[in-house]
This record gives sequence, C-alpha cells and structure tokens, in this order.
Amino acid sequence: MTTTPYRWIWLLPVMLLWSWPAHATDLYRQLCAQCHHPDRLGAMGPALLPENLERFSKKAAAEVIATGRPATQMPGFSDKLTEDEIQSLVNFIYSPRVPAPTWDEAAIHDSRIVHRANDTLPEKPVHKSDIMNLFMVVELGDHHVTVFDGDRLEPIYRFPSRFALHGGIKYSPDGRFAYMASRDGWISRFDLYSLNMTAEVRVAVNTRNVAVSGDGRYVLAANTLPRTLVILDATDLSLVKTIPVVNAKGESARPSAVYAAPPRHSFIVALKDIAEVWEIPVPQDEKSTEDPPFSVRTIAVDAVLDDFLFNQEYTQLIGASRSAPAGQVIDLNAGRKMADIAIPGMPHLSSGITWPYQDTVVMATPNIKEGEVTVVDMQSWKTIKRIPTLGPGFFMRSHENSPYAWVDVFSSASKDSVHVIDKATLEIHKTLQPAPGKTAAHVEFTKDGRYALLSIWEMDGALVIYDAKSLEEVKRIPMKKPSGKYNVSNKINRSAGTSH
Ligand code: HEC
Repeated sequence: MTTTPYRWIWLLPVMLLWSWPAHATDLYRQLCAQCHHPDRLGAMGPALLPENLERFSKKAAAEVIATGRPATQMPGFSDKLTEDEIQSLVNFIYSPRVPAPTWDEAAIHDSRIVHRANDTLPEKPVHKSDIMNLFMVVELGDHHVTVFDGDRLEPIYRFPSRFALHGGIKYSPDGRFAYMASRDGWISRFDLYSLNMTAEVRVAVNTRNVAVSGDGRYVLAANTLPRTLVILDATDLSLVKTIPVVNAKGESARPSAVYAAPPRHSFIVALKDIAEVWEIPVPQDEKSTEDPPFSVRTIAVDAVLDDFLFNQEYTQLIGASRSAPAGQVIDLNAGRKMADIAIPGMPHLSSGITWPYQDTVVMATPNIKEGEVTVVDMQSWKTIKRIPTLGPGFFMRSHENSPYAWVDVFSSASKDSVHVIDKATLEIHKTLQPAPGKTAAHVEFTKDGRYALLSIWEMDGALVIYDAKSLEEVKRIPMKKPSGKYNVSNKINRSAGTSH
C-alpha cells in the first residue's frame, strides 16, 4: 500500500460534517423542533429556512434565540446555550434543508381548516360600517390585522393573523371577502360581513403573494418553496390545481409575484431566474375547453422581469428586473416587447402608479436604489421628469380625487419623511415628517380620496390620518408596526392611484 501525505484527506469533510453541523442539528432537535417542526417547516412557531428568513438578518436571529421575543411563545436561550452554540444554530437555520422540503397536494389538502361554513354566514353585515370604505391594516409587530372604518376613521375590529403576512391583502370583486397570504404559505379567507375567518389552507412552505381572479372564483398563490403556483377555489380554499414553475426547457424558477388581470380574464406571473412572463387564463365556460383549464401561455422577454406595473386596460405590462437596470414595455396581446424605458437604479414598479397629465397619461415609480421618482410618458415611453427625493423609497400612492401623489423614502437615512408630489407640476409640493426619527411609509386613501392614511412603521407605531387636501393631520391611532393598508373600494375598482 502506498502512503501519500494526502492519505487521510477524505476525513476532512467527514469531520466537518460531524462537528458543528451535527451539534447544531442535535441542539435544534432538542430545543427548537417541538415548536418550529423537526424539518424546520414551522408549526406553532414560524418556519426556519433560508427562504423564509430572507428579510431577517443573522444578527437579529442570534438576538432572538438568545433573548426570545417578549409577549410571544419564543423563549430566550442565553442561559442554556453558549454564544458559539447560538451562532451554530443561526448558521444551521440559514442553510438550505437537504433534500429540499416538499409540500404536495396531499399536504395542502390535509392542512385546510374550515372555521365557518359558508351557509352559516350572515346575509348582511353584523356592523354598521360601509364595506366599500373599510381598510384592512396589517400590523406586523404582533401579527394582527385591524379592520378600519374609513368614514368614521375608527378601528372596528382586530384579529390575530398568521405569522408575517405579506404581498398585500386582496378582495373578492364584491368586496366582501379578504384573502391574505403569510410568509410560511398560509392562505386565509376573512368575511367582512361577519368579521370571521372562514377558511385557511397551507399551500407551501414559503409563499410570495396571492391574487383573486376578476370573476372572484379562483385564488392563485405564488410560492417559492416549493416552486409552485397553487390555484384554490375562492369560496372555500379547496385545492383546484398545482402548477410547478418549470418552463418548456425544464428550467425551474421562483415566482416573484402573481397579479390578477381582470379585463383579460387571466392571472399574470412574474418570474425570477428565467426571462419569461406567464399568463394563465381563467376558464370562462366550463364546457368549451380546448386546452386543459389553467394552461400557461408563455411570453418570452429579453431579460428577467420580476416586478410589474400594468396600464389601466391591462394591455401593456411595464416590467423591470431587480437585478438589471432599465425597464421593458410588453404588449400583452402581441406577446412581445414594444419599448425600452430608461429608469436608473432599481424601480419598484409594483408600487408605481399612473395618472392623466396634460394630454397624456404618465406612470411614476419610486426607486429602491436611487433617490428619485421617475415619471414616464405612457405614449412615447420617454422619461419626462426625474424628481429628486431625500433618498430611495418603496411605496407610492395617489387617488383619482387627489391632486397629490405620496412617496416615502423608506430605504434611506431620512426614512421619517414623506414627499407629497403635485401631480400637475411634477414637483414636490411638501415634505412631511409625521414622527421625527421614526419610519414613515405606505399611504392609502379613503374611498373618496378625502383622507390619506400613513403608517409609522415601528413597534410603538401609529396610523396617521391626513386631510388629503390641506395635508393637516386629523388624527393618530397607535398600532404595532402597521405596514400595508388596503381600502376595499380602491382595490376592487383598481384605482389608478394604488397597486392592484
Ligand atoms: C415554545 C415554542 C418555541 C421554542 C421551543 C422555540 N421557539 Fe423560536 N419561535 C417561537 C415562536 C412562537 C416564534 C414567533 C414569535 C413572534 O410572534 O414573533 C418564534 C420565533 C423564532 C425566530 C424568529 C423568526 C422570524 O422570522 O422572526 C427564530 C430565529 C427562532 N424562533 C429560533 C428558534 C430556535 C433556534 C429555537 C431553539 C433553540 C427556538 N426558536 C425555540 C416558538 C418557539
């Protein structure tokens, strides 16, 4: 037998595998699995997988493990674990699970909970508020949703949500039912008449968002773990179909969002990883089916486009990529690119808005990387104005009845400020600082555009209500890290001033 100096080299990976990860696996099994699931898929506590922890820093995770989360079931472990052990647990939960977790149709089916059967729901609202002017406000701080009356400017109800709602709350076309998606894949259906959760189902381990079809019959969830699109019956959240996100070449991709395109009777899916846009027609007439229902129409594009804005008619899609600059305009009927648009940095198109300006219509988008709002003419697709802001922002909102568009500077050092832009002059009209030193973000208008509601996005935050014309503060209601708020009428009527 020959002896080489490398003879024992094979032991190295074995030792590595056996040392910290094995220790972390044991610690996890003993201390965490009971609440976070043996495979980290989440149970009473949230899922602990890299996809789910994307928006959460390793440092913050170490802190939570050491000290726990006050007023929740998450205990602190600093008396049981050394700093090294905590660090190895952090590395463990941020490493992908091998093999990748699955969540098949049986798992979806088994997870479904019916809280209230539809035939037990009241015929009229049990409260006196106008359904059309209700808002649902997501409070991320303690995972609750507040139902807010936009006429009386008062909350009427507050209920616990699933862990970390995101991607926006959507409504049935009549405004009665709200659909929510949680980070960990739970889809919930809430009745605004009875103020009851009616059904819930877990469609995946990690979900991006949901959309409701224009006819209100289907809900589509876009998931990144596993990479699927799950279609549910909107009346009871039962499973209709699962579509794996794999293209004709066999390449899989992460969906970044799904949008409903009601005038087209379809859903449109934004994909990361592959240069395709998917359109999924919603079956119109059960009997006349040439293709199997929910067959995917693929539109090839020049570059990956994972963030969209549509024109009001849904004939054009304006897309940008989080990874490459510049935007593209896609003619959805022809299925091809019709223009390039010059937008620097990283536009946040899904938060972009449109309004009539002079003899044309413009779109305006906040920018996650650059301190500007870019205004583009939607006829010539030329940039007609670059409005400098105090820094990069995230959300932009207006209303048909308001002369102003509001934009935050969420991703900057001046994140306690919001700009109010005059839609006629394309200049900043006023800069507000609702709570100095605290993050101000996400505005939504009441149904008639009379008031603008803004979030102080902090644990001891608030909903600040402004008179949308005079820009005077009307009132302030304490809330726990309020984030998005969704007005029923503005959403179901697809107001040009809000994301759809
Ligand atoms: C008794 C149940 C329980 C145990 C045991 C437990 N957790 Fe948790 N954990 C929770 C709950 C519940 C939450 C969500 C708290 C909240 O509402 O913010 C949580 C949250 C977390 C979070 C924050 C996740 C996020 O996205 O905000 C991390 C990280 C975490 N736990 C890690 C661990 C680790 C590692 C262990 C084992 C050392 C552990 N947990 C043990 C219940 C538990």
